[in-house]
Parts: sequence; C-alpha cells; structure tokens
Amino acid sequence: SGTLNVTELGELLGKPANDIIKKLMFAGVMANKNQDLDEDTIELIAGEYGMAVKKEVEVEKTDLTQYIEIDDEKDLKERPPVVTIMGHVDHGKTTLLDSIRNTRVTAGEAGGITQHIGAYQIRTDAGKKITFLDTPGHAAFTSMRSRGAQVTDIAILVVAADDGVMPQTVEAINHAKAAEVPIIVAVNKMDKEAANPDRVMQELTEYELISEDWGGDTIFVPMSALQGEGIEELLEMILLVAEVEELKANANRRANGTVIEAELDKGRGAVASLLVQNGTLRVGDPIVVGNTFGRVRAMVNDLGKRIKKAGPSTPVEITGLSNVPQAGDRFVVFEDEKTARQIGELRQQKQLEERRGEQSKVSLEDLFEKI
Ligand code: GTP
Ligand code: MG
Repeated sequence: SGTLNVTELGELLGKPANDIIKKLMFAGVMANKNQDLDEDTIELIAGEYGMAVKKEVEVEKTDLTQYIEIDDEKDLKERPPVVTIMGHVDHGKTTLLDSIRNTRVTAGEAGGITQHIGAYQIRTDAGKKITFLDTPGHAAFTSMRSRGAQVTDIAILVVAADDGVMPQTVEAINHAKAAEVPIIVAVNKMDKEAANPDRVMQELTEYELISEDWGGDTIFVPMSALQGEGIEELLEMILLVAEVEELKANANRRANGTVIEAELDKGRGAVASLLVQNGTLRVGDPIVVGNTFGRVRAMVNDLGKRIKKAGPSTPVEITGLSNVPQAGDRFVVFEDEKTARQIGELRQQKQLEERRGEQSKVSLEDLFEKI
C-alpha cells in the first residue's frame, strides 16, 4: 500500500510523530515529520512498538480476479444471454418466469423434474439458448453488485398494463441503468379490461425508456404472462438484443463465474448454484468459491440431471465445497487442488480477520498485527 510519512505512521501506530522521529534517530535515520519512509524502515519502527507489518503479498494473493486469464479475441464464441426479470410487486414476474419455463419442455427434456437452482435455461424453437435468473430481480442486482459481481446481460422490466409505473418499477430501472444493462419492457396483463399500454409507454418516457414506435430505442412487448401470450415475441426480442450486445465467451478454458445461491444441505453438505460465465466447469475441478474451496464432486443442471461439464451461461448446482459460499461470490477453477486450497484458505483467513473487525476503518489493525 505504498509509503507512509512519519506523521502518517505515527497516526497508524497511535504515537506522536516526535516519538517516531526519536526511534528513527536511534536507528540512525534522520527524518522530519513529512519524510516518506520505505517499507523496511516502517517494518523496523513498527517492530519497536511490538507490531509487524502484515504481509501484503498474502493479501494480494486473495484477490480472485487476478487468476482469471484474459481470453484471446479469436477464442471467443457467442454465448447465451443471462436475463433477469424485474418489476413492481404483483406485476407478474413469477408468472412470466413460469410461463417461459413451460415453453421449454421438449421431447428430449420430458420427464425432467424442474429443480430450483436459482436459474434455468431454455432453448428456443430456433435452437438458441437463454438463461433466466430465478431469484427476485432486485436481490440479484443488489446482493450481487454489492460484491462486484455482474451476472445479468439483459433486464426484463415487467410493468402491469392496468397499474402502470410504480415505485419498484423505478427502482428496477435504476438498478439496470447503474449496471448498464439493456432493458426490454414487458407490458404485462394485456388481457385485463383496464389495460392501458399507452399510459405505460407515456410514464416510462420520464425514465428515458422510449418505445421504438415513438422514435426511441427501447423494445416494448405487450403480453399476458398468465395466458402465455407474447412469450415467443419476448424471447425473440431477447435474442435480438443479445445479438446486438455481442455476448461472447471461451468454452475452452477453466471456468469462472458467480454464485447464484447456496445453502447447507443435511445430506449433501454445502450446495451451491453457480452460473458459469466463462470457460467450462467439470466434475473434479479444483475450485475456489468466495471464501471457500473444494473439488466439484457432483454437478446437476436445472432439470436435476447429473452432468459432467457445463459451458458458458449455464446454471448448475454443485457439491464438494468445504463451506457454504454467499450469493454474488465469485468462483474460479484452478489447475491443481493444492493451489485452490492454498488460496481458499488465505481467503478464509482474511474473512475471519475482517469479521473480527480488524478492518473496520483505516486504523492500526489495517496495516499491523501484534507480534
Ligand atoms: P411478487 O413476487 O409478489 O413481487 O409478484 P410477481 O411480480 O411475481 O407477480 P405474480 O406473477 O405473482 O402475479 C401477481 C398476480 O397477477 C397473480 O395473481 C397472477 O396470476 C396475476 N397475473 C400475472 N400475470 C398476469 C397477466 O398477464 N394477466 C392477468 N390477468 N393476471 C396476471
Ligand atoms: Mg413473484
């Protein structure tokens, strides 16, 4: 974390700058209050007060993003979009998720019991896949984003045509905008007597969501989630937006992605639903997930079927972790178990330290530990 001057070091150690200057003098270093000190000197003075500088390398090692190699453009191929459905209470989010889910039961999948793993994938008639996050849209954005995770590519904003724009509609718009995610508006409950889609369009202009009919560039899809009307068109529009976004990934690499949800299962231990965002996740992979680690012991897809590998944009449920991670945690697959364990343990240790409040503010404990 760079250098400190004498005054700053004094503040961190809770000692007057003059004390530090005296210690420095005994050590043969002549310094004034504003003098920058090198790491060795800081270490030396801290030692005088019974403190050691925390090994910064170890802290740096815990940052998972550095282990994710950047792909070569030429290795990138189209991947399915990941979609989150948001909107005001009772506007039809769950009904919409359910009717979309029902469109996917094809001959090959018949008999599969839908598992709740926080997300599911459908294949459209044209053979294209779309992944839907099943978690309430707001939670998906808030909990994930608070951890710096971004899983959503496209947001569906459900607005009931008989109710119009409501507080949580606005909240949803703000989440999507903050995440810079394109929005498709699903004007729902069109089957209702009181449906007034023009009003919805009008109200949304205030939030810069202007329909293509009115010269804007936001896609509005009138629909009835309850009656299954407009679903096909919505799916088409999602694929259209996905194409514009040029969503890509490299299936030929070790996987990384984000935890959608996780829990402790009595029989199976820690169970985590993961969204593979890049690469291919395989049974047996050594993995660090948030502050825990392990080896992918078993993997099932959203139909409860055991699978051996999962490519980009695929939601899966895995077992084999030593602890339960949290929604929004990142996961990274490592080449060998030893490294995964080492980094997992460092992250665990760091989390424990943070829990003890050692990182409450910029204080002594941020930089030093008792020896
Ligand atoms: P919360 O999860 O509570 O925020 O609600 P939600 O947005 O998930 O709404 P949900 O899908 O539970 O729908 C709320 C009510 O509206 C239910 O009674 C649905 O049957 C009804 N509903 C949903 N979509 C439609 C529709 O297209 N037409 C009509 N008439 N009713 C609908
Ligand atoms: Mg719901």
